[in-house]
Amino acid sequence: MWGHDRRVWACGRIVAAIAAGMLLPIPGWATEISDTAIVGSRIHFSFDSETNVSYAIEQSTELVTNWVSILEYAGRGSPIRVEIPLSAVATFFRIRQGPRPPWSLDLRPVILKAGESVALPLRASGDHGTLQWTGSEGALPEGIRLLPEGRLEGVPSAAAAEFNEDGRYAVPVKVTEANSDAGPGREVVGELQILVRLSFQSNIRAKREHGPSLKEGCAVCHGSGFPPDVEAPPLSGLVNVASGSGGACGSQLVYVRPGDVAGSLLHEKLSGSPSCGARMPQGGPYLTDRQLERLARWIRELTPADSD
Ligand code: HEC
Repeated sequence: MWGHDRRVWACGRIVAAIAAGMLLPIPGWATEISDTAIVGSRIHFSFDSETNVSYAIEQSTELVTNWVSILEYAGRGSPIRVEIPLSAVATFFRIRQGPRPPWSLDLRPVILKAGESVALPLRASGDHGTLQWTGSEGALPEGIRLLPEGRLEGVPSAAAAEFNEDGRYAVPVKVTEANSDAGPGREVVGELQILVRLSFQSNIRAKREHGPSLKEGCAVCHGSGFPPDVEAPPLSGLVNVASGSGGACGSQLVYVRPGDVAGSLLHEKLSGSPSCGARMPQGGPYLTDRQLERLARWIRELTPADSD
């Protein structure tokens, strides 16, 4: 809980020396603590605390070195009451104070998929009060909202995945801590990286402006009777499904291998010169580079866990 620039100006404030079961406040420093008592095998005392300051109670068996932090507190502007078990050997205690440690945003990249609903809490780490999150207006993917309590919610649209042809977003995020008795609220800004992946159903098969629009271009010839079946769900029609319908390509190839564009016959048959049979769609018009790249991206982003 200590920040890097902790200061040790309370170093000399030795609170008490415990010797032979007696509590001995050090003269001159003793005013720093009050309500000292030994109750059973525990030492009790109180000290005043300030906001925006952290306090560590440290313990050592000798006065000069070997201080070990045993308790830590965030200052609240009011007295802090301490209770410490007595150790067998004579022990010294001191209070060390430092600035309240900063807190930070713990913004890991977020991966979403067009059409799949999201409810994802974002995180901050460190000691902080109640936080209010704001995402930069218009910077979030279409269909996604950032709620004040720090949750990403919604369903990213097909257009969200096609944004800039890479579906990547860098969203400026501002997080404000509420004022509290620990001190005035602090504000932290950060950038949230979001990727919205393409969906077969809504970006590849559906009719989209720059999409391969497979339903439109392929379903006239390819369906359940003549694979690849572009109408079936991709898991049964394409993904890890072996070729073999046309004769020209044999049956050792696979229409779509998740993450492997070069190993996906579907992409090869749509590109310049396929290694087997004719370029698709048969007779043309062929796909533009942009349409082909979108198909390649869907395959690259696809994982074995995906169903679309
Ligand atoms: C006019 C009809 C027609 C259209 C439209 C068409 N294809 Fe084909 N397709 C064929 C024929 C015929 C074959 C078999 C001969 C060959 O492989 O060249 C074939 C073969 C294939 C194969 C290899 C299948 C295998 O198992 O060997 C793939 C993959 C393919 N097409 C994908 C597509 C895609 C994707 C589209 C749409 C962008 C499309 N085709 C549009 C007629 C068509």
